[in-house]
Amino acid sequence: MTRPVSNVPKHVAIIMDGNGRWAERRHHPRVFGHIRGSAKIKPIVQEADRLGIKALTLYAFSTENWSRPETERSVLWRLLKKYLLRERDGLNEKNVRLHVIGELERLESEVRAIVEETLEMLKNNTGLQLSFAISYGSRRELVRAARRFAEDCLAGRQVPEAMDEDVMAGYLWTSDLGSLRDVDLVIRTSGEKRISNYLLWQAAYAEFSFLDLCWPDFGPEHLRAAVEEYGNRDRRFGRIKSEN
Ligand code: FPP
Repeated sequence: MTRPVSNVPKHVAIIMDGNGRWAERRHHPRVFGHIRGSAKIKPIVQEADRLGIKALTLYAFSTENWSRPETERSVLWRLLKKYLLRERDGLNEKNVRLHVIGELERLESEVRAIVEETLEMLKNNTGLQLSFAISYGSRRELVRAARRFAEDCLAGRQVPEAMDEDVMAGYLWTSDLGSLRDVDLVIRTSGEKRISNYLLWQAAYAEFSFLDLCWPDFGPEHLRAAVEEYGNRDRRFGRIKSEN
């Protein structure tokens, strides 16, 4: 029996970093790190659900990752396909809903078809909201939102005065998450301490946890520890009195 955790963050976003370094330190090709890293997703999703986290967003592929060699990219797409095909029945049984944030249209048709099929299959689920950020970049997301809002204004569906923080949030890829769209806790593995174009709007008031271990070494116990530590933090959102 594991002890219950209080003050659980509603939305946790993870930068699964350090796969390449993990493999290189072991004199393996970088892709070996991605293979090990992809095996860590299932136990982390299960633990997130057990902890009572409502939304979990995982950074799987950034807009910048397109500049990686084709061989590495194709392994990442193969791992994504395998993960979805292998796990989607189990996710469905657990009432997990899947979201994808990012430029889905840039994916090759076979990967995109599997992603879309899985989104459809899990679309009525109401439990953990699991998002994969794929071909995602926050700046791209904000530029696209601005462009779509401008188009809506030109078409008469919107007026400039209507723009506020809520309206803006509705134009972002995370809009489907509704009240869960703001991120409470960002976890980054690998020891790097940066945000790397990830959820810049959504994480405006997030707490951060930078862990000195690579993603393939990250386990449910580390997620639990980060969540427990979050529970002890004083979140003031710019005010004097804390609010959690
Ligand atoms: C960062 O490590 C990780 C990625 C760019 C991809 C994350 C992908 C996975 C965990 C596997 C994909 C599987 C699914 C199911 C989405 P890095 O290569 O940047 O590591 P480095 O900084 O040490 O080079």
